[in-house]
Amino acid sequence: MALILGIESSCDETSAAVVRDGAQVLSNVVSSQIATHAPYGGVVPELASREHLRAIVPVVREALQRANVEMKAIDALAVTQGPGLAGALLVGITYAKALSFALSKPLISVNHLEGHIHAVLLEHRQTHSEELPMPSLALVVSGGHTHLYRVDRTVQGWKYRNVGRTLDDAAGEAFDKVAKLLGLGYPGGPIIEQLALQGNPQAIAMPRSQIKARQKKHARGEEFEAASESYDFSFSGIKTSVLRFVESHAMKPAIAERQHSLSAVENPTVEDYLAHCDRLTLDLIASFQEAVVQDLVAKTLNAAQKFEVEALIVTGGVAANSRLRSQFVERAERQGLRVFFPSRGLSTDNAAMIAAAAYPNFLAGTFAEEHFSAEASMRLG
Ligand code: KG4
Ligand code: ZN
Repeated sequence: MALILGIESSCDETSAAVVRDGAQVLSNVVSSQIATHAPYGGVVPELASREHLRAIVPVVREALQRANVEMKAIDALAVTQGPGLAGALLVGITYAKALSFALSKPLISVNHLEGHIHAVLLEHRQTHSEELPMPSLALVVSGGHTHLYRVDRTVQGWKYRNVGRTLDDAAGEAFDKVAKLLGLGYPGGPIIEQLALQGNPQAIAMPRSQIKARQKKHARGEEFEAASESYDFSFSGIKTSVLRFVESHAMKPAIAERQHSLSAVENPTVEDYLAHCDRLTLDLIASFQEAVVQDLVAKTLNAAQKFEVEALIVTGGVAANSRLRSQFVERAERQGLRVFFPSRGLSTDNAAMIAAAAYPNFLAGTFAEEHFSAEASMRLG
């Protein structure tokens, strides 16, 4: 039996969790910084680091208390190495290194994207004696990432092959930017999901992103070439057409008014938002969400066919979206594929997924080098 204390601080949630054997979540404490960043319409890196520093000690203490476990009973520590905001990552890493040093416990560094995949594997183990069917295709879709991985389990451990990714905005980022553009606040995903229920998703035509095969793109400063058939994503076209629609329909004064009115309401409810959205705005929101969802589902299902996988894993903050979930289930079933999601609590950033991803490394005795540091653009596969 192994108890792992996971620590996650890659973006705007400070989280600590105690997980037994990569399967039982004894505690999973998440302290969100949404209130700090909301006035800016997105995460402010400087503020994020400071908030992590404030939260890290009480969050870890609470995770141990809720798990009813003393620090000395922990077998190993696990911490997110990247990708994420460098300053934010450094807070978790520094704290985990100090704990590891002081307590003489091994430390395991974890890729945040692998963590999102393990959120699903972890929950599957809670109800099944077998691992989820492999190979599978994982769509990691969050505020920072829209990546497709072929996931396999080999004798050497878990293997990931990146088969597609966004060439511009991440899907969650598009939700956040469109929400900001429409005066709806941060984070955009949850409120867009609620408001989209009241609009007509077919009302406004959105462009379908077309990524041509063999197209060369600059991504994060390096050149890469897409595979002969591309499973890459692009959301900037959809985002731009929302902007154009706003401009051509003279919606800006109404948006400024909405933003002003909502900023005066503490913790606005869906009814508050609805009171400030006309039909055209609701149709625009619903059409935007539908375009993103259909693109994510279509590309993932194409890739699933190509890479002959047994199952789909859909994870990350945007995987909390109900329309995305129902469309995946409906369309994947037609293709004879099962889709696995994390529970909503484990969709967004949390440390339980980090502790779970670390467990195979714990068993293999693969620990972090003493000199390891944050890797803001860390890749998986
Ligand atoms: O995984 P996560 O907590 O952090 C990152 O690693 O980025 O994801 C946060 C992102 C935000 O962009 C947020 O708007 C989006 O996930 N999100 C959603 C929903 N809930 C959160 N997007 C669409 N629908 C939702 N219900
Ligand atoms: Zn994440």
